[in-house]
Amino acid sequence: MASAEQGWSEVDAYLAGELVEEDAALVAARDRGRQRGLPPIEVTATQGAFLALLAQVSGARRVLEIGTLAGYSTIWLARAVGGAGHVTTVELDPRHAEVARENVDRAGVGPLVRIEVGRALDVVARLADRGAEPYDLVFVDADKANMPAYLELALRVTRPGSVIVGDNVVRRGAVVDPEDDDPDVVGVREFLHALGSDPRLTATALQTVGAKGWDGFAIARVT
Ligand code: SAH
Ligand code: DHB
Ligand code: MG
Repeated sequence: MASAEQGWSEVDAYLAGELVEEDAALVAARDRGRQRGLPPIEVTATQGAFLALLAQVSGARRVLEIGTLAGYSTIWLARAVGGAGHVTTVELDPRHAEVARENVDRAGVGPLVRIEVGRALDVVARLADRGAEPYDLVFVDADKANMPAYLELALRVTRPGSVIVGDNVVRRGAVVDPEDDDPDVVGVREFLHALGSDPRLTATALQTVGAKGWDGFAIARVT
């Protein structure tokens, strides 16, 4: 194996091949994002399947996603909640939202997905003010500098037992580099600190390696 990273990718492909059904609609969703010039930063197939399993084992019906991109993770989550469920996903960039709309429709989950275009800080605050039915699972995967604020908002739109997942919390180890004061890294550190110290939450984080390199997920349960 030429390098550790190559090994991570090969094993990811092996695990995906053995365990994960990434069908034509998911492949097409990723490809369409590339064709339209969206950044290649969606979750991997094994990670998408992991999110879907989290939604299913927690019995989630209503999912809130912060950061849609081309809708790849949205499709995984919408399929996981199924016909009785719903995904609201928030995206700042209207071009991303347009590609995502096409992707979720083509994947057959269009009726289960509402795409809210705008700054997630505003959109989720509005959802909270409206006092809608709580979400069972929140996937936080947008601008990392705002992760602490997204956590506060997530707590306003969830209930005891809800699950909050944060993506990209390891960032190739940058999270422990004392020299790194990138706002995204600082946001992730504050997010993790809040997850660990807020009595409303029970949390952990897991490092991941794979086709997207070295990163990690944080997972919390609202108490
Ligand atoms: N969850 C997706 C990947 C999301 S990438 C998947 O795994 O398939 C992050 C997305 O967050 C990008 O599309 C970016 O445009 C969006 N974003 C960035 N800042 C945002 C903000 N302030 N509000 C809402 N979306 C934002
Ligand atoms: C980036 C963002 C993501 O959500 C991700 O999963 C990977 C990378 C980024 O902004 O580079
Ligand atoms: Mg991410």
